[in-house]
Amino acid sequence: MTMQPPELAAFAEHCRHRVETALEQFLPAPATLPQDLHQAMRYAVLDGGKRVRPLLVYAAGQALDADEQALDVAASAVECIHAYSLVHDDLPAMDNDDLRRGKPTCHRAFGEALAILAGDALQCKAFHLLAHAPMGAVDAEARVEMLELLALAAGSRGMVGGQALDMAAVGRELDIAELEDMHIHKTGALIRAAVLLGAWCAPTLAHDQRRALDHYAKCIGLAFQVQDDILDVIGDTQALGKRAGADRARRKPTYPDLLGLAGARERAQELHQRALHSLEGFGAEADPLRWLSHYIVARSA
Ligand code: IPE
Ligand code: IPE
Ligand code: MG
Ligand code: MG
Ligand code: MG
Repeated sequence: MTMQPPELAAFAEHCRHRVETALEQFLPAPATLPQDLHQAMRYAVLDGGKRVRPLLVYAAGQALDADEQALDVAASAVECIHAYSLVHDDLPAMDNDDLRRGKPTCHRAFGEALAILAGDALQCKAFHLLAHAPMGAVDAEARVEMLELLALAAGSRGMVGGQALDMAAVGRELDIAELEDMHIHKTGALIRAAVLLGAWCAPTLAHDQRRALDHYAKCIGLAFQVQDDILDVIGDTQALGKRAGADRARRKPTYPDLLGLAGARERAQELHQRALHSLEGFGAEADPLRWLSHYIVARSA
């Protein structure tokens, strides 16, 4: 199994360059007061991460011929929410992790109080970007749709709700439906939002296209966390940039726990196939979405 389809490499390089440039520009400068807060925000977001959610924004945008300036904003917004979720996820009150993206976690580097505040401020930054940053031809109505969908995906019925389920599940045995529900919320919701944000940046979005992309996004969103659970078992700390084996150490229910490694891999593959199937109405313009689906279940980090 290849870790990255060769075609994905050039697309990913192009998009990563765009989103790095945008994030660098959108985040407050390190010298802006309060400096330690802004430094913590930049530390949490810049120089790290695979940028899977931004890549999905650009890929969905490309499938519908969206304006790249608008995609830069949507990609930056979803990555700010994601980075905030990681900062809070790593806190002692949650997963209590010391390593993230190959560096000390934000609270390890800046202290708990600043890490909490940096997460809070990153969340606000995301919504401010969608409300305010230049987005080419995207109109006010589309912006409101994007604000709503990101708010729902990040909130108590989305990522934060999933994190609450995750905390409540520590040391418990979940059945597969409960585990899936937790994963769909804590990780799937934001990945789904990334794809839909990309779609909303397009000049036109037909109802059946939105449905197809939504189905694709739900499949890969869940597949992403299935693979995250697999990598916690088979990956190594150096490659992951976060501590391997952390789920078992913290008695977290996972896919490999419930289905075994082979069963978890099968589930990820099945979701990948379903994601590809949802894209059947699209031509080559949706290839980056296809490559990303493959990457999500084949990645080693
Ligand atoms: C890790 O996400 C947290 C999960 C939702 C599983 P990523 O694996 O996308 O982390 P980065 O952004 O590449 O560091
Ligand atoms: C985190 O899930 C999902 C988030 C909302 C951040 P995990 O706790 O499994 O993520 P990692 O393994 O620490 O990256
Ligand atoms: Mg967690
Ligand atoms: Mg964690
Ligand atoms: Mg994990």
